[in-house]
Amino acid sequence: MADIDARALPQDPYSTAALAEAGLEYRLIPADGDGFPHFLQAVNRGFLGEESTSEQVEASRTAIGFRRMTGIFDRSGLQPLGPVATVDSWITQLTLPGRQTIPMWAISGVTVSPTHRRKGIARAMLEGELRTAAAAGIPIAGLTVSEATIYHRFGFSPATYATDWSIETKRARWIGPRPDGRLDFLDREALPDELSALHERVRNARPGEVAGWPGLWQRQAGTTPGAEGGRKVRAVRYADASGTTRGIAVYRITEHDADFTKNTLNLQQLITETPDAYAALWRFVLEHDLVEVVKAPLRSVDEPLRWMISDQRGASVTTSDHGWLRILDVVTTLQARSYSASGTFVLRVEDALGFADGTWRIDIDAAGAATVTATDAAPDLSMTVNELGSILLGGVRAVTLFAAGRVHGDRDAATALDASFASADTPYLGLWY
Ligand SMILES: CC(C)(COP(=O)(O)OP(=O)(O)OC[C@H]1O[C@@H](n2cnc3c(N)ncnc32)[C@H](O)[C@@H]1OP(=O)(O)O)[C@@H](O)C(=O)NCCC(=O)NCCS
Repeated sequence: MADIDARALPQDPYSTAALAEAGLEYRLIPADGDGFPHFLQAVNRGFLGEESTSEQVEASRTAIGFRRMTGIFDRSGLQPLGPVATVDSWITQLTLPGRQTIPMWAISGVTVSPTHRRKGIARAMLEGELRTAAAAGIPIAGLTVSEATIYHRFGFSPATYATDWSIETKRARWIGPRPDGRLDFLDREALPDELSALHERVRNARPGEVAGWPGLWQRQAGTTPGAEGGRKVRAVRYADASGTTRGIAVYRITEHDADFTKNTLNLQQLITETPDAYAALWRFVLEHDLVEVVKAPLRSVDEPLRWMISDQRGASVTTSDHGWLRILDVVTTLQARSYSASGTFVLRVEDALGFADGTWRIDIDAAGAATVTATDAAPDLSMTVNELGSILLGGVRAVTLFAAGRVHGDRDAATALDASFASADTPYLGLWY
């Protein structure tokens, strides 16, 4: 299963036909072909970015060449070689509660040219992606969204949330542990490999986390060609008494216009493997000289940091949805995670696209392992595939969705489901894809 190469899977015939009907061509784009630069520039335009230079195009062939890239072409237009819509995807690993992983169809680069909006192109692309993934036996799809209003209709729903922190360093004085071990700056050239290795070691302890890829770590290190502000990136690692790297903080400092003591430290990545690394690196960041404010996006909803500063109000924290999931195969997905309490539940799941639709019986044994079967029994609870995706990792509670009118049925069953679906590890996704 993990060996499937998304690039080698056939093009979805339904979307190909639907788009052809509208005079559009739906086509896979190899990273080493002539179509790739056009694909990349279309993605840049879709995300309101600058055009890539030829050097950046060549680097991107390697950086995202592992992805299945699809373009939609309007051959009657002025730029027949440039796609009017794009999507890319690949098979990654998603961590579930209990620290198991399952293959996930990751979707990215969804753009539709402003000249071709609202013609059903996004629908054809998204449905094509989901059908291709399901046909290949991939049990779940995921994405991170720049606009939260688009993906619900395709069965996606938030399953992990993230917090953005803005911390006044003078007010939020450090009162946490001061562990032994040492801090050292890392060379930027070495940083992508260091981040990758550390992320690989920690991601299985975080439900919702996915595998990284080389281009991501290069971008974080600011080592991709022409990376804006790349040379401002600084990275510090914490090593334990044995000299092993246990945590890395990556940051950039934005200088204050007028006052050298009032700079802002932007913590763009913090990966830690042990509580000591976590404390040592947060303390380093908060006690950094000449820094008045620390901004730290994409942190967990349950940061221990809150309890390591003298004045919790010295940190303002905002929460937003981050990792969106879309279950394609209910049996495989629900059986892959482990559960916090035994129980038997019959869930009616509605899925307008059909993949997860059905009534499912979930038997969870005392060890927290589930057996899931299709059933004709009367359901205890009913919901759409969206709610099932949201509660999958334990980060969204069934009782909350029940109170919100999104899960229906027996209140006690919702409470019991909540206890079973709870996760000992807080769901968290620490990257954008
Ligand atoms: C958002 C975007 C992908 C939509 O593409 P599109 O081809 O116009 O969408 P479609 O015509 O296929 O519409 C599909 C459905 O989504 C709805 N929709 C489209 N854009 C929407 C938006 N921005 N917000 C809410 N709903 C939207 C449509 O009404 C339609 O609904 P329906 O099928 O239930 O009637 C496109 O506008 C775009 O490229 N935006 C900029 C890049 C971006 O935000 N990408 C998303 C990255 S996560």
